[in-house]
Amino acid sequence: MHFELSEEHLAVKEAAREFAQKELKPGVIERDKNMTYPTEQVRKMAELGFLGMMVSPEYGGGGMDTISYVLAMEEISKVDNSCSVIMSVNNSLVCWGLETFGTEAQKQKYLTKLATGEWIGAFCLSEPEAGSDATSQRTTAIDMGDHYLLNGTKNWITNGGTSKVHLVIAQTDAEKGHRGINAFIVETDWEGVQIGGKEDKLGIRSSDTHTIMYSDVKVPKENRIGEDGFGFKFAMKTLTGGRIGIAAQALGIAAGSYELSLAYSQEREAFGKPISQHQAIAFKLADMSVETEAARLLVYRAAWLKDQHMDYSAASSMAKLYASEVAMRHSVEAVQVHGGYGFVKEYHVERLMRDAKITQIYEGTSEVQRIVISRTALKGKPYVPVSKNAVAEKV
Ligand code: CAA
Repeated sequence: MHFELSEEHLAVKEAAREFAQKELKPGVIERDKNMTYPTEQVRKMAELGFLGMMVSPEYGGGGMDTISYVLAMEEISKVDNSCSVIMSVNNSLVCWGLETFGTEAQKQKYLTKLATGEWIGAFCLSEPEAGSDATSQRTTAIDMGDHYLLNGTKNWITNGGTSKVHLVIAQTDAEKGHRGINAFIVETDWEGVQIGGKEDKLGIRSSDTHTIMYSDVKVPKENRIGEDGFGFKFAMKTLTGGRIGIAAQALGIAAGSYELSLAYSQEREAFGKPISQHQAIAFKLADMSVETEAARLLVYRAAWLKDQHMDYSAASSMAKLYASEVAMRHSVEAVQVHGGYGFVKEYHVERLMRDAKITQIYEGTSEVQRIVISRTALKGKPYVPVSKNAVAEKV
């Protein structure tokens, strides 16, 4: 066992840090305030290869491992979580799902454009009445012979208004329960796809979140992903990896809160000395650094397990559950350390506090992560396989 990052990993982390500090930080406050989609910043993320980091170079991706991806997500999330959620959904839900389960024709047609960021993708699972209870899909896709007819509504869809491709989960046979669910690739300019208004959110305000309506959309048979009835498992397997990306986002918020608090507390003086010299603040910094480090270890371990093709489902839920709770706690503490300045937009920490909340909700709430973790325990399975021989289910 060793805890050292490779030269390549350090280079990715440094490149992402430089990009976030130089290109994302200027303007992030205004974009958040005005809910302005970061068009130019997303274009630069595409240019730098951040939108298809783990996709094989054969399909236009960076061919990197999951550790590189979480390192980049962490650095970008210290600054701009609207950009990091756009990046996360495109990388871990859309590109990974297509590369792992798509046909060669689907990869050639869609993945090659999504991995380079020429197109952005969205993952459409949640519905007005199917959030945590993801098997209760009301969206239907009726088999019409040479195509499916798609009808229904999806809610809170990240990249909803800017994406060219949706991966849509829908019920094809209600009697079969989760085995009657399928996943489809839908192009957003097809007839019957209607994009609802942009949501006015508490956090990640410049990302693009919409309700999507599908009315009699004709989806060609060849756009179904996997065998008939594979859609629910497709969603679960894809979200298991996605949760590592959101865990890394939460880690970035926690680490960003800590870094800003450390710097501010060394500059700001009260009672004749920097506030960092007062135990009340110094102990907050100590607690923040310990919990951030613990979250980091959970996130890196989940990413490493995925790279080793070992069972990472409980590990990914643990990383997301813990990192998102640490992000919430530390961003609140960061506002407290900054005092009155923390309550105004200029100092960045109030935005991190607002952004932190969604990491406890999307890609499975904290309660859903506890379901996954506790079921693992109740099945008598180890939370984390200790060797490759203990692989429960290879992905
Ligand atoms: N990998 C593979 N298969 C899995 C799996 C996994 N991680 N999790 C479950 N399954 C399989 C089960 O084995 C079972 O199959 P069999 O019957 O063949 O054994 C099947 O799926 C059904 O599983 P469950 O009985 O466990 O299903 P459930 O109804 O009890 O639900 C749940 C389990 C964990 C709560 C699941 O519904 C869930 O994860 N809900 C949360 C959904 C979610 O994360 N939504 C996020 C929306 S996307 C988003 O936020 C993106 C964004 O824009 C940022």
